[in-house]
Amino acid sequence: MIALTKAVHIAALAVWCAGLLALPVILQAYGRRPETRTQAGFAEFRLLAHRAYIALITPAAVIAVAAGTALIFMEGLRDAWLMAKLAAVAGMVLIHAWLGHLIGKSGEGAGRYRLPSPLPALGALIVLMAAVLWLVLAKPDLAPLAEHLPDWLRQPLGRELDPALVPI
Ligand code: HEM
Repeated sequence: MIALTKAVHIAALAVWCAGLLALPVILQAYGRRPETRTQAGFAEFRLLAHRAYIALITPAAVIAVAAGTALIFMEGLRDAWLMAKLAAVAGMVLIHAWLGHLIGKSGEGAGRYRLPSPLPALGALIVLMAAVLWLVLAKPDLAPLAEHLPDWLRQPLGRELDPALVPI
């Protein structure tokens, strides 16, 4: 069962990572072509970016995260390298959301929205993916580093949640 879940995890994250790397290139190279300024070219660009995002890349991300979360419980992992990996994955998720925001805006601004360059996201994604892969494959012993974290990050403080934050 662990082997199957790991296979699902790796297959889904391969699609997710490939899609995350492709999206900034599509937005930059495809979205700024002169043809994209025509109705037909714009429709093609929207279909490619929007469909790829909602029908392929986001579902792959959800499956990769769900299978990875299941693996944590199946293998009973609590190590510091895993926490570092999750922090890097959180960065990937934030960039995923930002690219979705750009794709949405590119179709809703009625020509007034000026798309910022998505290329810095590409650089950040390459760094984050390399970090995630190194952490999960090398499994470095980060426990000594964790000891330098402030106390409030290392133990539960037993505080009550602010009532304004309680949903029901
Ligand atoms: C919230 C998201 C994620 C969670 C909770 C998660 C969790 C896990 C866990 C628990 C394992 C098993 C580790 C082991 O058996 O040693 C694993 C394996 C793996 N993960 Fe993730 N992961 C996530 C996202 C990612 C991402 C985004 C990548 C790549 C960029 C990735 C790459 C891998 C690889 C390559 C393995 C196989 C490692 C091995 O078997 O040696 N994971 N993941």
